[in-house]
Amino acid sequence: MSFANAFDFVQRQVRRTIENYPGLHPMYTTHGRWDTTGERWTHWCEGFFPGMMWLIHQKTGDGWMRQQAEAYSKRLEPRQHDRAVHDLGFIFLSTYLPWYRLSGDPALNAVLIQTGRTLALRFQPGGRYLCSFLGPESLFIDIMANVGIIFYAGRETGDEALLEVARQHCLTTRRRLVRGDGSTAHEGIFDPATGEFLRQSTRQGYRGDSCWSRGLAWALYGFHVAYEYSGDERFLATARACADFYLRNTPPEGVPWWDFDVPEGPQRIYDSSAAAIAAAGLIRQGRKNEARAILRTLCDRFLVAPDQDGVLSQGVYHIPKNLGVSESVIWGDYFFTEALAAALSDE
Ligand code: GLY
Repeated sequence: MSFANAFDFVQRQVRRTIENYPGLHPMYTTHGRWDTTGERWTHWCEGFFPGMMWLIHQKTGDGWMRQQAEAYSKRLEPRQHDRAVHDLGFIFLSTYLPWYRLSGDPALNAVLIQTGRTLALRFQPGGRYLCSFLGPESLFIDIMANVGIIFYAGRETGDEALLEVARQHCLTTRRRLVRGDGSTAHEGIFDPATGEFLRQSTRQGYRGDSCWSRGLAWALYGFHVAYEYSGDERFLATARACADFYLRNTPPEGVPWWDFDVPEGPQRIYDSSAAAIAAAGLIRQGRKNEARAILRTLCDRFLVAPDQDGVLSQGVYHIPKNLGVSESVIWGDYFFTEALAAALSDE
């Protein structure tokens, strides 16, 4: 399917979800239908569906879609104070940031700034990182895709302390979770009392010493965003090293297994969402040909059947918990839409 037709498909699927599941912020499907009751593990995805609406509105000018985007985004506003998750960048960079950019309303910017301040409260001064929702001892690679909201808030306010928190988090993640070959660990465990780094670990990957594909994609994307905000060349080098690892180790069609170290056999299943995030990150890095090759595969082989919910098939949420395995996942759909919109702008 062409990129233009795939973008039309995204619009139809988003409309269908709004009509069939009013008010739902979907997360993953079960047997091809949005799961409205299943375990969430943590509440990190509520921005992605309205984020898709903003991306569609930006590309098409569709006024109805903008009304929906505003209504779905507005509901998230209390989350600016949410101290239970490390995912505030996911929630607000996909919603309030495009909303603010389009409207210029300072009240929206105030929400973005407060969100950055709230996320910064997770900073652990001993180990110099933002801790995951699991506790002060835990650092996740995923947080790299969220730390941008702290850079944003620091830049908007001129608050050097906020910028320093964001920089230190990136430097610690680079040192402790990114390996010499550009692969990444999912989690780092620290001694919260002393800040000493103890070991690499995982929650969603195959093993503590493996490379969970989506974690690598978050790093590939997130370190580049950190470079865009800070101009720090070390973050650019890390983003490129992660991208190189992805491209060297992914099957030629561009979609990886859910973990790069999973052995041959029945456990070898794709995670299309990692590919979508990687494509969006590669576009940010200016590696458009590689990104387009991934998008072509996703458009040709990974779209759901039109009678199913979601956009991309064969995504993965959480294999150890058996949540959303070989299903549509909303962040895969969001980053696919982001990458597709950018690729279409180049045509
Ligand atoms: N919590 C982020 C992820 O599952 O990728």
